[in-house]
Amino acid sequence: MRIVLLGAPGSGKGTQSQRLVKAYGIPQISTGDLLREARAKGTELGLRAKAAMDAGKLVDDATVLGMIRERLSLPDAVNGFILDGFPRNIPQAQALEAMLADLREPLDAVVLLNLDLKVLFKRLTGRRICENCNRVFNIYTSLPGTLPHCDQCAGARLIQRDDDKEEVIGKRLDVYEAQTKPLISHYTAAGLLRTVDADADVETVFANIQRAIAK
Ligand code: AP5
Repeated sequence: MRIVLLGAPGSGKGTQSQRLVKAYGIPQISTGDLLREARAKGTELGLRAKAAMDAGKLVDDATVLGMIRERLSLPDAVNGFILDGFPRNIPQAQALEAMLADLREPLDAVVLLNLDLKVLFKRLTGRRICENCNRVFNIYTSLPGTLPHCDQCAGARLIQRDDDKEEVIGKRLDVYEAQTKPLISHYTAAGLLRTVDADADVETVFANIQRAIAK
């Protein structure tokens, strides 16, 4: 199964990808995670991406497409994948179509996680990440007793992503509106879009996604 999870920052793409990985045995390919990994390693690509990410803007298409091309060629992607945070604009979607056409492996579905702006804002300001294992928590919804340390990493600290600061969140949401939202019409026209209500608890949203994929 080859699917794209589409949605605004904080709509739950990462959270739901983790569940899909377990349920379908296919890898999550998150351009955000790949870029953060490159930054943490201090690679040239990571350094190039830093300024755009810190400003809440998109990293340039050439960098992201090079990264995706490399990732899709790894053996674990042969039976399918979940694209999380990619494509992010029309040129990226067109480049993905060309890549998958070469491989004769078209997308099966694009799942849009639909959510109110106010909820997005609260989810993003409340998100915390384990600095050791990158597990995602939320100060509003995680189980009491887990915060402010990761329950799996012997007390490692939970930190806030730089781009989850209030001043950057607004910019990321603007970028979503201007550059990513046009993908909704693009994938509707292609007959691939499945819209899912993402304003519910994690398990309910997951069930909504599974129903949408099965259609
Ligand atoms: P990226 O990492 O992709 O960020 P994003 O798309 O903004 O998405 P997020 O990771 O913020 O949110 P999410 O939808 O995964 O939500 P999550 O599950 O964590 O990109 C970061 C940056 O990298 C971009 O700004 C850009 O600079 C660059 N970049 C990445 N891809 C790019 C591309 N293709 N092209 C160019 N540049 C690119 O959930 C959020 C919070 O809500 C968590 O705390 C979670 O616990 C909580 N939560 C989730 N679901 C629920 C629920 N159902 N109920 C209650 N709480 C929930």
